[in-house]
Amino acid sequence: MEKLVIVEDNEDIRSQLRWGLSAEYEVLVAGNRLEALSLFKKHLPKVVTLDLGLPPDENGCEEGFRCLDDVLRQAPATKVIMITGNEDSENALRAVQNGAYDYYRKPLNLSELKVILARAFHLAAIEKENRSLQLCLDQHHQTPGGIIGQSPQMMEVFSSIRKVASSEVAVLITGESGTGKELVARAIRELSPRKSGAFIAINCGAIPENLLESELFGYEKGAFSGAHNRVQGKVEYANKGTLFLDEIGELPLNLQVKLLRFLQEKTIQRVGGREDISVDARIIAATNRDIVKETETGAFREDLYYRISVIHINLPPLRERGSDILLLANFFLRRFCHELKKKTRRFSAGSVKLLESYEWPGNVRELENRVQRAVIMSDEPIIEPESLGFSLKAVKDGIHSFANLTLKDAREMIEREMVVSAIENQNSNMARAAEALGISRPTLYDLVKKYDISRPAE
Ligand SMILES: Nc1ncnc2c1ncn2[C@@H]1O[C@H](COP(=O)(O)OP(=O)(O)OP(=O)(O)O)[C@@H](O)[C@H]1O
Ligand SMILES: [Mg+2]
Repeated sequence: MEKLVIVEDNEDIRSQLRWGLSAEYEVLVAGNRLEALSLFKKHLPKVVTLDLGLPPDENGCEEGFRCLDDVLRQAPATKVIMITGNEDSENALRAVQNGAYDYYRKPLNLSELKVILARAFHLAAIEKENRSLQLCLDQHHQTPGGIIGQSPQMMEVFSSIRKVASSEVAVLITGESGTGKELVARAIRELSPRKSGAFIAINCGAIPENLLESELFGYEKGAFSGAHNRVQGKVEYANKGTLFLDEIGELPLNLQVKLLRFLQEKTIQRVGGREDISVDARIIAATNRDIVKETETGAFREDLYYRISVIHINLPPLRERGSDILLLANFFLRRFCHELKKKTRRFSAGSVKLLESYEWPGNVRELENRVQRAVIMSDEPIIEPESLGFSLKAVKDGIHSFANLTLKDAREMIEREMVVSAIENQNSNMARAAEALGISRPTLYDLVKKYDISRPAE
């Protein structure tokens, strides 16, 4: 039997409801906000009916609204049905605006209330199913290596990954920074017969040029001052496995020659050594440079380019992946909420529009970082653009580049952003912040309330 929590301070109505509904639900009743909360935490019901006038404010509504807020903070998906006085249409609407599922005006009619309750439970069940389907979909959209995407461009990437994985050919992965080049390299290895071999990644751009050769090929004892022992290079470690040459565009020309020799002969010599050592490694290279152009200017050897790019996989920038942006954003949101043990959140309509219209110069990595930051920094159930670190400029750019933002959304986003930065700039001095914005203090307080802006205690 489903659990139903009824919050009602009137003894008669309480027993009437308990009597009328206990055939269908496991009815749990509370007479005030604190009782309601402890019942709620213990049972986590999908549906709650909540009397607006709770003690100590039986004739007002503040305690009822506070209770609504508390419940939704605990579990945003709960369906709360507000029970209001007959004359109280303004508060009924306010309740729905604040996240209540529905309202019901007294006097209570049991059979009507039953219909509303049944619909609320039905919706809660559908939403729950939806969430678990969403999880399955996440898994479905993932290829090995955890690459998320369903855009046609990414489907093509997935198909290339599957095709090249089983062969031994060299693969060149290109794409802007943060598009997932390393993830793709790992996925190829994951699907390949070399799965159990090592995956050795070398960032050719991060190692100083004078150390790179010994890092790659190792050295013999006494090869140079300080070489007290023989040391194996990364290439040698990749034997029977996969060698990932990241940022290969950064490789200096003299090492390009040595790498080419290794690719042709499948042997290496350690620095200071003469022995040819065979190494059987699969090569995957990546770069965010336009390497074809660099072969034309001579910055990258053409013969090496042909060796490493038997197959070329290009990753599209995030801004060109359409609905993948939201798919990824929601995936990261679920992942970070889970990892950081935070309650479920969702993006506000304004955030969704910005996520979709933003340029994403840092691509998927930037998206991942922004969502993580929002989950850490904000405890609100709904994520606003500001928590994603979008500046006023980004908000404005979003409006320029995207016609689907309504004027009202745009106005509200900018209004919120301006209020937040004025309060910040004035060190939370509300009088000065109001003055800077050219509005009265009460208006500023109204805006703070409207946008649910948190500020340090004054
Ligand atoms: N399609 C995707 N699905 C899930 N996570 C992704 C996806 N693409 C990238 N990521 C994540 O984004 C981050 C950046 O990816 P990765 O390091 O592979 O990018 P990169 O192209 O190698 O970047 P750079 O050029 O800066 O080295 C990683 O945390 C990665 O897990
Ligand atoms: Mg990388």
